[in-house]
Amino acid sequence: MTNSPIPRVGGKKLLRKAICDRFPEAQKYDRYIEVFGGAAWVLLCKDKHAKMEVYNDGDGELVNLMRCLKYHCEELKKEISGIYNSREMFFDALEQLQCRGFTDIQRAARYFIKMRLSFGANGNEYGCSKKPFQKSTEYLSIVSQRFTSVIIEHKNYDDLIKVYDRSTALFYLDPPYYGTEKMYDVSFSYDDHIKLKQLLNSIKGMFILSYNDDPFIRDLYRDFKIEPIDRNNNMSSGRYKELLIKNY
Ligand SMILES: C[S@@+](CC[C@H](N)C(=O)[O-])C[C@H]1O[C@@H](n2cnc3c(N)ncnc32)[C@H](O)[C@@H]1O
Repeated sequence: MTNSPIPRVGGKKLLRKAICDRFPEAQKYDRYIEVFGGAAWVLLCKDKHAKMEVYNDGDGELVNLMRCLKYHCEELKKEISGIYNSREMFFDALEQLQCRGFTDIQRAARYFIKMRLSFGANGNEYGCSKKPFQKSTEYLSIVSQRFTSVIIEHKNYDDLIKVYDRSTALFYLDPPYYGTEKMYDVSFSYDDHIKLKQLLNSIKGMFILSYNDDPFIRDLYRDFKIEPIDRNNNMSSGRYKELLIKNY
């Protein structure tokens, strides 16, 4: 188990253990597919989930960071070695991500800075954190090592599910929550919630799905096993209700 090198809106840092505890017995699946991978908190919760492991996300900048982490970790670390926690460096990284001509590794470094230095990983406001930036690079090498045998994909969720579906597959899905679809750079609409449910109705494999506790979602998935779970919400120090939905 290791920490993710980046925070992500909706990231499952606090729930990852509860989610993995609800996976089927290990001998029932031989491929593990994370469809909405984000910061990969659930994938990184175990040293190995299955013989075949797939990380996917629809966000190209995020996937580029994960690929560079896997294949060019030392170069990536070099690229961010002179960075410290400052408003100027944060906004420079944001502006440079709008420009052409950077290499994949240079883009990955700027995206990493954007995520680490923004407020709540929202990617647009400076976080004013007193944490030293270089401390945030401590997990890069460990995660790079963990990714050695992980397939990294950049597909829309529907294509990905079709490609990897087998009777021995376990999908973990953490889509944008109902009502918070606009928080990411990839499009996910009301219709996608319906389409995802229709796809999950017909897969051969097993799935476990995270969602916010909302009457619309409870009704949409009424034919599956729904378990409400509580988590502490870091931002408001209140309790948050989430759902875990399974077909096994
Ligand atoms: C709730 S976050 C996942 C968080 C992740 N489980 C973690 O612990 O970090 C949802 C993710 O879905 C991705 N996403 C949004 N729309 C997508 C789509 N149409 N296809 C694939 N991924 C998508 C976003 O980029 C985001 O990273």
